[in-house]
This record gives sequence, C-alpha cells and structure tokens, in this order.
Amino acid sequence: MTAATTSLSAIKPQIVPIALDEGQRGYDILIGAGLLDQSASFEGLPKAAAALIVSNETVAPLFLQRLQTQLAKQYARVDAVLLPDGEQFKDWASLNLVFDRLLETASDRKTVLFALGGGVIGDMTGFAAAVYMRGVPFVQVPTTLLAQVDSSVGGKTAINHPLGKNMLGAFYQPARVIADLDSLDSLPQRELSAGLAEVIKYGPIADAAFLDWIELNLDAMLARDKVALAYAVKRCCEIKAWVVGQDEREQGLRAILNFGHTFGHAIETGLGYGAWLHGEAVGCGMVMASDLSVRLGLMPAEFLPRMRSLIERAGLPVLGPALGAQRYLELMRVDKKAEGGAIRFVLVEGLGKAGMHAAPDDLVAQVLASHCA
Ligand code: NAD
Ligand code: GLY
Repeated sequence: MTAATTSLSAIKPQIVPIALDEGQRGYDILIGAGLLDQSASFEGLPKAAAALIVSNETVAPLFLQRLQTQLAKQYARVDAVLLPDGEQFKDWASLNLVFDRLLETASDRKTVLFALGGGVIGDMTGFAAAVYMRGVPFVQVPTTLLAQVDSSVGGKTAINHPLGKNMLGAFYQPARVIADLDSLDSLPQRELSAGLAEVIKYGPIADAAFLDWIELNLDAMLARDKVALAYAVKRCCEIKAWVVGQDEREQGLRAILNFGHTFGHAIETGLGYGAWLHGEAVGCGMVMASDLSVRLGLMPAEFLPRMRSLIERAGLPVLGPALGAQRYLELMRVDKKAEGGAIRFVLVEGLGKAGMHAAPDDLVAQVLASHCA
C-alpha cells in the first residue's frame, strides 16, 4: 500500500460507468480536473430546448457562469434558480422554488435539470426532476467532496421532514455525473472533513485495502493533494457503482452504504438540521456503529480505536451530542431501515464486509453512554 504519487498523469479524466438492470440502463461518472471548462464533458447529454441549473447562493458565484457558458452551446435557453444554502432548507419550500421556475418558464418534459452544488442541491434537484411532469432528465455537477464520492451517484433523491432525515424522496437516476476536482479548491476545510467521513465509510464496509490506503493518504487529502483526491473519488465511485448496480432500490446490499448513518441521522434530526454537518454526524455515527460491531462480537476490540483515530484525524467529531439514550432510540426508530419499530444497524462483520443487525436497546444505550459528550 503506497501513498499517492504526485504525478499529474494520475488526475487525467477518468470515467466510472454505473450499470443498472444488468446493463440495460446506466450512465457515466466523469472525474477529473477542469471538467467544467471542457465541452467534451457535456457532449451527448439529453437533447432539449431548455436547461435549468439549480444551485445556491454560495455555489453560484463560483461556478454558475462557467456552467451556463457550456450549456449555452447546446440548449437554446439556459435558466438558473438559486435556493437558500443549508441543510435546514432541504425542504418543500425550496423544492417549490424549482417547480415555480419550471412552470413560470413553461418548461416542457424534455427540459434538463442540472444540479450544481453539494449533496443538498443534488438531492433536491434529483427529487424535483423525478416529480416535475412525472420525470425529466437531470445531470449531477457535484462541487463538494461528499457529493463527488457519494450523494451524486446512485439516484437517491430526497428532502427532509422535521421528524426524519431524507424521509420524502424517490429513486431517480441522473443522466450523467460530472465531478470536477478543481471545484474542491474553494471548499471550506470543515466541508472537506465532512466529505472524508463518506470516503472513510467505504473502507470498512467494502474494501479493506482501501481503508489502509485512506489511513496512509489522509494527510494528503486534508492538504488537498489532487492526486490523492482523484484516487479517492474514483475508488469511492467504483465501490458505489458496484453496490448500486446490484441493488438500486435498497432491497438488501445497498443498505451497507448507510454505515454510521442510523446514529448520524439521529444526531442531525435531534439537534436540528444544519447544526452538525451530515458528514460530521456520519463520522461520529461510524464510531458508535464500530463500537456496536465490537460489542456484538462481529469485530475484534482493536477495530474501534482504529476507526476512532482515523475519524478524529480527519477533523471530525468523535463524541456525539448528549441527547439522552431514550431520545436517540426514539429518533432511530424513524430511520428508513427500521422495520416495525425495530432499529436495524449496518455493522461491520470483518474488514471490507458489512451487514444489517438488530441490537438490544440496553447495548445501544451503553454505546451511546461511551460516545456522547
Ligand atoms: P451541502 O450540499 O450543504 O454543501 C456543503 C456546503 O458547501 C454548502 O454551504 C455549500 O453551499 C457549500 N459548497 C458547495 N460546493 C462548494 C465549493 N466548491 N466551494 C465552496 N463552498 C461550496 O452538503 P454536502 O456535504 O455536499 O451534502 C450533504 C447532503 O447530502 C445531506 O443532505 C445528505 O443527506 C445528502 N446525502 C445524500 C446521499 C445520496 O445518496 N443521495 C448520500 C450522502 C449524503
Ligand atoms: N448514501 C447511501 C446510498 O446512496 O445508498
């Protein structure tokens, strides 16, 4: 296992294909530096008279003009709608702003939506595309590390409900994902760390060698070494494409991508959306889920300090907020993986392998007591 080289050839554009229905459907994930300024990134997209870019107040000043320039080459009309920035605005009111714009401009059912931003914009744009006129095409242009390694890929779209995270949504695949690594240059360090939580996730659940690589290359990623980031985005997308290709609608295997998310979603909903970043909650949730994996005898004791140390090194919190065990349990029963009120956790069953498990409430309470402030 070697640290990333600094060879620029390692960041030449890569294409990770995602194949669904045994190859009947699918799309490409483009990964590379400078993709937003290359016409080739946009060739072969769905044809239409109009495109609507959905972005937010923070991202638009950085990238909107460049995306508009590219899209104007093939769409007669290119509109943009800017949503308020933040997890707390991932709701019906913001979604309606997209529908308002589509209807005000009499957009037809061929109109292509472009999600320009992080996971919040991507999830909402995908949901809007799934619902507008019962479905219009959309393209993901993820600009955060988290969105490039996870949320832009695989077709989960959603908004939040005050009682539960991502509770309203649809499975709806994009026509393409265009992940320009240069967009990560302007990302605040806290957001980079949040994205690293989802990068770390893929190691224990699917690829033990990748976990070793992450440990070795974490400092390089924190310092925004493009070669290291390019490899991380590519490997994460490969793993996600492999999982989603087998289980698009989460009938089984896909649930492993939610390692740390049952505890994490409880933190996000319990504190109020936006108080902790999604990646921060997932990072801390992975510490808790690692401990539960150990306590249930699925993993040896050394797994917990290994995961805690990596998550801490990534700049993520490892102690959860003191919501109280009963409140955590109540929140976790609203999780999408729960069945008949019984909470089901994604736990690691051996490095590179994960599965779903129930756990007694008192054991979960012990985990929470060990990892809450
Ligand atoms: P985010 O979308 O809120 O973006 C983080 C912040 O960075 C925002 O303030 C945004 O405006 C800003 N930003 C985005 N790109 C930037 C750039 N290049 N430079 C500077 N600032 C930039 O958060 P996120 O972490 O990208 O996504 C989290 C969301 O993704 C959550 O809602 C989560 O539920 C969802 N998610 C979905 C999936 C899925 O499979 N659909 C998977 C994981 C997470
Ligand atoms: N991020 C979880 C999933 O896509 O299934």
